[in-house]
Amino acid sequence: MSATFVPREAVGPAASPAASAVAEAAAAGAAGGPMVSARNLTKWFKGLVAVSDVSFDVGPGVTALLGPNGAGKSTLLRMLCGLTPPDMGELRLLGRDPRHDTSVLKYVGLVPQQEAVFPRMRALDFVRLAGTLHGLDDPDAAARLALDAVEMDADDTRPVDTYSKGMRQRVKVAQALVNGPSVVMADEPLNGLDPRQRVRLIEIFQRLGAEGRCVIISSHVLDEVERFGSRVLVVAQGRLAAEGDFRGIRDLMDDRPHMIRIRSDRIRALASTLLASEIVRGATIVDEYTAQVSVTDVGLFRRSVAPAAQHVGALIAEVLPLDDDLESVFRYLVGAPGRGGST
Ligand SMILES: Nc1ncnc2c1ncn2[C@@H]1O[C@H](COP(=O)(O)OP(=O)(O)OP(=O)(O)O)[C@@H](O)[C@H]1O
Ligand SMILES: [Mg+2]
Repeated sequence: MSATFVPREAVGPAASPAASAVAEAAAAGAAGGPMVSARNLTKWFKGLVAVSDVSFDVGPGVTALLGPNGAGKSTLLRMLCGLTPPDMGELRLLGRDPRHDTSVLKYVGLVPQQEAVFPRMRALDFVRLAGTLHGLDDPDAAARLALDAVEMDADDTRPVDTYSKGMRQRVKVAQALVNGPSVVMADEPLNGLDPRQRVRLIEIFQRLGAEGRCVIISSHVLDEVERFGSRVLVVAQGRLAAEGDFRGIRDLMDDRPHMIRIRSDRIRALASTLLASEIVRGATIVDEYTAQVSVTDVGLFRRSVAPAAQHVGALIAEVLPLDDDLESVFRYLVGAPGRGGST
């Protein structure tokens, strides 16, 4: 398993494919070091701690920031981009502090979570405007390049509000790429996209990562993150709850106790067999046909439940995980003792 509960120690940067963006990063002062670095980052809003003591290093390639609603992903990304200051802790973008050295922001592109495109504008005008705000020499050429990178037609004359959600998301990504950034942060860019659009956008992010850019993408959907095939930082309740590759994170999540509802014509006999053979840790009979069982080894349960039913001559009408939503997974990661989440 290659995921760990964290977060006290920072880990090293990911492997580094050589590319022009790396050269830019080197020019910006991050040669050899992590491209993005957070140390004990903390942010609160009045009484609410939105981000608490988060530390990590990120290098080139795609890194996913995974967490449920309200976990602190946007606040974290906004701090990393220099948009909002941390109340405590330190951060470095390409070796510099974006609050004190704003020149580093020319190497950064942010895809915000909100719909951030002006409705009546053409994509080219919108992305060119971003290039102008960056003070680029040739914003038009840069906008065309950026739109090309996200497979959009720069000469499309339609206003962006006639675009599909996926196209608007790609325009937002193009806007973030117009300055040729070494660090790209995208806040839930796959939200609301259909599966085909999602695949296209993931491919675009993977390409940006393969070019040597540091690409950080937030998501609250575990399956989405699986597709990135990347390093994952899990944030829950403002804290870094786990980090590792996707498979390791999935294993961590599978290792927790699960509640599963089973419906069967011989539920008592089936529950007894599952308990006796230690396939389940506990069982509660809900009614004549229904039991709730708690399971620690989900793999073993999946493999064993059908043979166990066959053994007692029971028919299974339903096997339903009751707590497979991400919220309960994250609650487990943060709440379990010794899991690095408590402060
Ligand atoms: N400007 C703000 N003022 C007050 N509270 C805020 C502000 N921004 C965020 N919060 C609170 O901080 C916590 C973290 O919010 P944040 O938006 O960073 O989470 P998130 O992981 O991005 O959630 P989502 O998945 O819903 O986008 C939440 O409880 C949120 O209500
Ligand atoms: Mg958010």
